[in-house]
Amino acid sequence: MDKQELLKEYQDVFNGEAKDVFFSPGRINVIGEHTDYNGGHVFPCAISLGTFGVYGPRDDDKVQLYSANMEGSTVVEFSINDEKPETDADKTWTNYFKGMLVYLKQAGYQIDHGFNLLVHGNLPYGAGLSSSASIELLMGNLLKDEFNLDIDEISLVKLGQKTENDFVGLNSGIMDQFAVGMGKKDNAIFLDCSTLEYQYLPLKLGDYEIVIMSTNKKHSLAGSKYNERVEQCEEAVKRLNQKLNIKKLGELDENTFDEYSYLINDDVLICRARHAVAENQRTLRAIEAMKAGDLEKLGRLINASHVSLHFDYEVTGKELDTLAETAWEQPGCLGARMVGGGFAGSAIAIVKKDQADAFKENVGKVYRETIGYDASFYDAEIVDGPHKI
Ligand code: GLA
Repeated sequence: MDKQELLKEYQDVFNGEAKDVFFSPGRINVIGEHTDYNGGHVFPCAISLGTFGVYGPRDDDKVQLYSANMEGSTVVEFSINDEKPETDADKTWTNYFKGMLVYLKQAGYQIDHGFNLLVHGNLPYGAGLSSSASIELLMGNLLKDEFNLDIDEISLVKLGQKTENDFVGLNSGIMDQFAVGMGKKDNAIFLDCSTLEYQYLPLKLGDYEIVIMSTNKKHSLAGSKYNERVEQCEEAVKRLNQKLNIKKLGELDENTFDEYSYLINDDVLICRARHAVAENQRTLRAIEAMKAGDLEKLGRLINASHVSLHFDYEVTGKELDTLAETAWEQPGCLGARMVGGGFAGSAIAIVKKDQADAFKENVGKVYRETIGYDASFYDAEIVDGPHKI
């Protein structure tokens, strides 16, 4: 999307000149799914699909928000002093913005006048590429810049997670906000979610590239099922703690989990916990494989991640399974798996560059025949976190 076009869109909606344009990326995750809130490791990166924000100051205390992505969209207005989440279904999309504003103000940062903001994303909403974290960190970085707030990126990342948890009501971990806020060009972030220690690792894929495959299915029920997974893991920890003393499943290796899993004594909870433990260990092995340049092993671990998310964590569904399983059969594909919360959204595949076109065509065809509508394919670059353009 071009800056001039964005400025023109702002002019058309707000009848005035904008001051600045910002961009905030979305994210994918190479491996480490549903491990973040379990105190485990993740390996995500920020991508060149994301959200643009066009900002103009106002001299009253109103915030006027307009989304160019929603059909028949209107300007939504609230006061900078209004601290209540929006409950009107047509306007709940504004809570990702409003939450950041509310929590920055509650943390003592001065935001002393209103503003207009036009947002326009090229990240499909509900695609599992974290349009929500993209918006939260867009808002955080934009307010930091325009109001000269003395706050570091990791604090903004934490306020993004707080917005998600307390303002929106999804008990998510910190992966998405961290991946977006701390994104670095051509690097993935190896993050320990229990300590927030992190390391940038160049994503060296040689002759291979990452293909993003969207199911084009919106995940409407995902929120409640996501929170249910979080609770199931907490319950498993409680039961393991009859003999152990852990805070999160990420503290366990597979052998220790195996020895104590009898304490859980419930088939569903054992499956959920086994995924959380195994996926964390798998992520550590994937990092070793990457460092050793063993892309084939990395690919197999990516496949194993999907299998575990399918059978043990049960967060895939027919659409994501069709994408991943069809991808596995294609020549030149090293590995494929769903990314993000699951149930719908997107998957990724590591595919040989010169076979990527045939890959997309074949997977697209099988998907259409099996599901009844098209999947979308995206090539994204790995980019830096939010910034002014
Ligand atoms: C969503 C959440 C993240 C993470 C993933 C699953 O994207 O926002 O915190 O839990 O699901 O790995």
